[in-house]
Amino acid sequence: MNISDQYSDFSQDCHSLVSKYLTKVLFEHLKDKRTNNGFSLQQAINSGVVNPDSGIGIYAGDEASYATFAPLFDPIIEDYHGYGKDRLHISNLNPEDLNAANPDPEGHYIISTRIRVARNLHGLPLGTTISTEHRKLVEQRVVSALEKLVGDLAGRYYPLKTMSEADRARLISDHILFKAGDRFLQAAGLNRDWPESRGIFHNNDRTFSAWVNEEDHLRVISMQIGGDIKQVFTRLSAAVAEIGRELEFSRNHHLGYITSCPTNLGTAMRASVHINLPKLATDMAQLTSIADEYHLQVRGMHGEHTASEGSIFDVSNRRRLGVTEVECVQDMYDGIVVLIKIEQTL
Ligand code: ARG
Repeated sequence: MNISDQYSDFSQDCHSLVSKYLTKVLFEHLKDKRTNNGFSLQQAINSGVVNPDSGIGIYAGDEASYATFAPLFDPIIEDYHGYGKDRLHISNLNPEDLNAANPDPEGHYIISTRIRVARNLHGLPLGTTISTEHRKLVEQRVVSALEKLVGDLAGRYYPLKTMSEADRARLISDHILFKAGDRFLQAAGLNRDWPESRGIFHNNDRTFSAWVNEEDHLRVISMQIGGDIKQVFTRLSAAVAEIGRELEFSRNHHLGYITSCPTNLGTAMRASVHINLPKLATDMAQLTSIADEYHLQVRGMHGEHTASEGSIFDVSNRRRLGVTEVECVQDMYDGIVVLIKIEQTL
């Protein structure tokens, strides 16, 4: 990783939030500041500098980064989440409060449903700047908590380092494993020592999994075939509660759960479906405008920064901070109901 201490003049066609808010004056003001863990502005923005096609382009090194570099993080957080710096974040993971009868019980449109949250351990630096030893400690603590899970959630941990090539390929194509070598994470320092202390945990029927030391210390994931969004949320909520009894996570009243990327702050939740919309697929302008109206994000089905394949889209909630977990899933659900309704009229 080569990090410049010069202000980078973002090119004309760079539209990232970091390029929008980082002026030369602000750069000069922040460039010599460090958090207690030694994390700098230059490290925070490196991914956005190296990847001018970033949407955001900034990562935190620890919880303190959000305060130390607040003049840059605050407007980015406000812009992305529509969340002002005096607001308080409230959590609600109670599935009883979710209104989400399966919108597609016959399975015409929704292929699968997936909900994940990110978590980071309190008192340790985030993956962007964590040491080899601390990363290992995160792995030990997280895996020991995961291995205590019982019933449907019980499963096994597979370290990336000892995983066979065949297992790896299969887990990736089943959308269970994270990809290696993401250039945004690379430039953010998140791929250092790869594949050391990274791995994946999953239960028998693969409806519950966890990522260890990818973009965040821990990603907790619930997924299944079809559109029973409430069941997926109920499983996630149970898993998070169990794991939370064993581990203390980094969070505060303003930012909610602390994450490496400011897009994930708050609930750190992404609730998504893979959905087949053959008619809407021929009118991307309409699809995008409905998505915007319902706070949805539309992606390709092979993860972030991928194109859609034919008419299958990955549709998820966009807001995560200043809304509860229930509201995140409700956002996704309400939008999906509208998309299906429109698809049926076309
Ligand atoms: N840093 C990348 C960008 O700015 C990804 C941002 C959101 N995604 C994520 N996985 N944190 O485009």
